[in-house]
Amino acid sequence: MNFVTSNRVETFSGKLTVPGDKSISHRAMIVGASAVGESTINGLLEGQDVMATANALRFLGADVAKNNDGSWSVYGRGVGGFLESPAVLDMGNSGTGTRLLMGLVAAHPFSTIFSGDASLSARPMGRVMGPLQRMGAGFNARDGETLPLTVHGSDILRPVTEELAVASAQVKSAILLAGLNTRGQTTVIEPLPTRNHTENLLAAFGAEIKIEANEQGNVITLTGQPELLAQQVSIPGDISSAAFPLVAGLITPGARIVIENVGLNPLRRGLLDTLAEMGAHIEIENNHTDEVEPVGDLSVAFGTLQGVRVPAKRAPSMIDEYPILAVAAACAEGQTIFEGVSELRQKESDRLCAISEGLAACGVEVRETEDSIVIIGQGKAPRGGGCISSKLDHRIAMAFLVLGMATINPIVMDDIAPIDTSFPGFLETMNGLGCDFRKEVSS
Ligand code: S3P
Repeated sequence: MNFVTSNRVETFSGKLTVPGDKSISHRAMIVGASAVGESTINGLLEGQDVMATANALRFLGADVAKNNDGSWSVYGRGVGGFLESPAVLDMGNSGTGTRLLMGLVAAHPFSTIFSGDASLSARPMGRVMGPLQRMGAGFNARDGETLPLTVHGSDILRPVTEELAVASAQVKSAILLAGLNTRGQTTVIEPLPTRNHTENLLAAFGAEIKIEANEQGNVITLTGQPELLAQQVSIPGDISSAAFPLVAGLITPGARIVIENVGLNPLRRGLLDTLAEMGAHIEIENNHTDEVEPVGDLSVAFGTLQGVRVPAKRAPSMIDEYPILAVAAACAEGQTIFEGVSELRQKESDRLCAISEGLAACGVEVRETEDSIVIIGQGKAPRGGGCISSKLDHRIAMAFLVLGMATINPIVMDDIAPIDTSFPGFLETMNGLGCDFRKEVSS
């Protein structure tokens, strides 16, 4: 195992950038591979999850390569042009890659087999299978809805109007990607708006996509079988990765941190709103729109935080940020409640359980229900001292390493390997700013 100890730090300051946005990286590869011509992608996240998607696209016949200048080129096959994979697509830990590609291959006339690690193999795929089945695709899955799983695709799917049962950008994107090679109009209705990177990229590559808000929610309509044309895409830093140094800056006395070039899509910014309500001073500078997505620099300094109520309707805009927000809440003064967050049980681990077990092991009072969590902060450094299991979950690993920066006693993380799925170089980046994350040499 890759044990790491996180020791309390005295200073934490400087400028940094974080790796490219994971959600946009998967989508830029997939949409580029569906276009005609060579797309160039700058700022791609080279984490394990996105590399699994790149490998899968190669198996499906697309040409994906890294250039000498660090950019990536994707030579697309055009809409409907993918080939049957000669091998099982091993998606590692990546729920996003799996669900998006399930949609893509569902609209092709061949079968595709997906496999993954223990975490991914426990995650529900029924939420994607249902809509794709209604479009006409077939499935065989272990226990009905988990990996390993085979998609039996078709190039004569039916266009559907699908109202999402869960607010999920992955499910929405899977349906839209299946709709790409489906004649007619595919419509997705989402009760709460979720990240819209798929819609933004499809529009930028030339698809006809219409988004309207009505009393049912957000109605997204894609006209199938467009000709997508290759584009240049710049991917901003991932706000979900920036969240870790951001909260580290808020809880470390004397800290001052600037995180440059962070994606600030309005549907991803819920953490910033919540931290502002907690009393954090976060400034946004150099705000501009970079090709498709808004970008800016985040500047943050240490300050006292107050507990808050985080309403259920904000969950989609900060769904991956609850583990690190729990760390901020543990250091804040008073009670923080996360409402309507049962979806956290379906992530890389059961995050509600991982948060409450981990905080309790570090001396923080915490109460968990089926779909909420209450964290009682004391307005001072928690005791710490826990040995935490990352449970194959990158965000749990990073969150508790950050908590160890502020706790009285060090926190030990049992396995940091999962961090490479989204934030390669996390330890080095954070140590460069003053952290004391130490790898333990196991005998
Ligand atoms: C993602 C959507 C979210 C998020 C995940 C990335 C995406 O999942 O948790 O890390 O890129 O579409 P859900 O769609 O399941 O909410």
